[in-house]
Amino acid sequence: MGRTVAQTMHYAGAGWLIRNKRDREEGTLRMREALELKPGMVVCDLGSGNGYHSLPMAKEVAPEGKVLAVDIQPEMLEMLKERAAAQAVTNVECIVGEVHDPHLPEGSCDLILLVDVYHEFSHPEVMLKAIRKALKPDGKVVLVEFRAEDLSVPIKPEHKMSKAQIMKELEANGFALKRSFDELPWQHMMWFGKSE
Ligand SMILES: C[S@@+](CC[C@H](N)C(=O)[O-])C[C@H]1O[C@@H](n2cnc3c(N)ncnc32)[C@H](O)[C@@H]1O
Repeated sequence: MGRTVAQTMHYAGAGWLIRNKRDREEGTLRMREALELKPGMVVCDLGSGNGYHSLPMAKEVAPEGKVLAVDIQPEMLEMLKERAAAQAVTNVECIVGEVHDPHLPEGSCDLILLVDVYHEFSHPEVMLKAIRKALKPDGKVVLVEFRAEDLSVPIKPEHKMSKAQIMKELEANGFALKRSFDELPWQHMMWFGKSE
């Protein structure tokens, strides 16, 4: 791949994910608006952490839709469950994944969102294969990654990705770029569908 895989963000640092200024810094509301979620959708928040995005997405797809929140750290999912209970959100299913398997049902997802996690995958190829399998035929996977090309983005280099690197890895694993949103302050946002 020609890049260093970043270390997994430890659950002890989960407070950073729900910091007050996150929307101001990352444009998280705009990011979620750009997803154009609809009631009834099945959305996976892969590498959900403590659910910063899972919970508002669950509200958007309710009542029939749901969010599958997958993380390899059960502690993150426990925090997510507590936050869901406090907000009376009942349509989030938590799934403890493994580094090589998100344990998602085949053909189940309209959308799989990966915010700030793809660069942490220790087994990116097998994860992409599993993601492809978990998508519905027209399903999309959306990558949100800190821009490596932009030195003003205050994130460590191994936690950033360039557009070229994302394209190289996704195209090599059966995905085609469908859309990109270039208005976020710090991140690339890129939609991929299954290539023929
Ligand atoms: C930097 S956090 C981002 C959390 C969340 N996406 C957000 O934006 O608030 C990355 C999360 O991805 C999880 N993670 C890393 N590798 C994973 C994998 N192979 N499958 C599922 N989760 C993974 C980590 O445990 C961590 O909770």
